[in-house]
Amino acid sequence: MSQLFSTARLGALTLQNHLVMSPMTRNRATGNVPNPLMAEYYAQRATAGLIITEGTSPSANGLGYPRIPGIYSPAQVDGWKLITGAVHAVGAKIFVQLMHCGRIAHPLNLPAGARVLAPSAIAAAGEMYTDAEGMKPNAMPQAMTEADINKSIEEYAQAAKNAVIAGFDGVELHSANGYLLEQFLRPNSNQRINGYGGAIEKRARFVLEVVDAVIKAIGKDKVGIRLSPFGVFNDMPLYDKMEADYTYIAHQLNTRGLVYIHLVDHSHMGAPKVPDSIKEMFRSVFKGKLILSGGYDAARAERDLAAGKCDLVAVGRPFIANPDLVARWKTGAAENVPDMNTFYTPGAKGYTDYTTLG
Ligand SMILES: Cc1cc2nc3c(=O)[nH]c(=O)nc-3n(C[C@H](O)[C@H](O)[C@H](O)COP(=O)(O)O)c2cc1C
Repeated sequence: MSQLFSTARLGALTLQNHLVMSPMTRNRATGNVPNPLMAEYYAQRATAGLIITEGTSPSANGLGYPRIPGIYSPAQVDGWKLITGAVHAVGAKIFVQLMHCGRIAHPLNLPAGARVLAPSAIAAAGEMYTDAEGMKPNAMPQAMTEADINKSIEEYAQAAKNAVIAGFDGVELHSANGYLLEQFLRPNSNQRINGYGGAIEKRARFVLEVVDAVIKAIGKDKVGIRLSPFGVFNDMPLYDKMEADYTYIAHQLNTRGLVYIHLVDHSHMGAPKVPDSIKEMFRSVFKGKLILSGGYDAARAERDLAAGKCDLVAVGRPFIANPDLVARWKTGAAENVPDMNTFYTPGAKGYTDYTTLG
């Protein structure tokens, strides 16, 4: 009996299977507004149990990359309605990933008047692609004032309300991979000396206040969070107290009762190993659903579900290249190979033109 392809519960939702499409930025939202091409892309993949959208900004300030969508304007909410309707018609549930890029940004990617913000005025090592001038060093961010922090928390809450209006089943807070929420969690990017920096209780405060505000806005059953303990992407080096810090975070999130925690593991993409002990810690501390991700195939997904290591399995790159991944995994059919050259390019090529078994 396959657990992977049987129905699953997620809060009040029933998912048509245990397979989740991982959040993946695809940069097709010209003008930062979701469009019919994106609706076609997501609908093609809506035999998944749950789709988590690409990172989507709650604020103009959070749009660090070119052509990523937002969910703060009426036009964006209308655009997302096309997508949630198309996905629901096929059968998947869909959460929007709220991603504020913080310091992983360049002003050339931001609309007029928007600002590059971060906990501290420390630029991330590395470069950012811009449509106007190609690769540029990540910008020097402005350290957020308490007023900026309060405004940002309100923006997350409003974005969550907008998500419900747009027809989403819930939101995933992107607190992984070096973006704004993780920038507050990590000591290298958060060197504040006021109430939002210092010990982990202080560094986690912004994330937990965002969690509380979003739960208040739409209810804990509709709120998940993505975390990347031991992740190093976007200039987030390892440090000694990592495991203790994430244990504190796990307990705090458990108290709040959100619907899921989604853990990143990019060791299959060449990143350092994420210790099993940290995944096991989350499993034992957090009583909501646990989603694991990173380098899964069908056999490993079945194994980890059967062993009780997680409740759902999220898959990224195979879903890019195989809109009918669920059918292929059910039958053991060969898979298309993803084309990295078109991961982030505009238009249909490498986006909606992957073949299905038919
Ligand atoms: C093109 C691309 C875009 C991605 N964008 C995001 C994103 O917006 N948010 C996020 O949390 N992870 C993002 N990721 C990471 C994936 O969600 C996932 O963790 C990663 O691909 C590993 O899973 P896989 O081995 O199944 O591909 C992205 C990955 C790829 C390949």
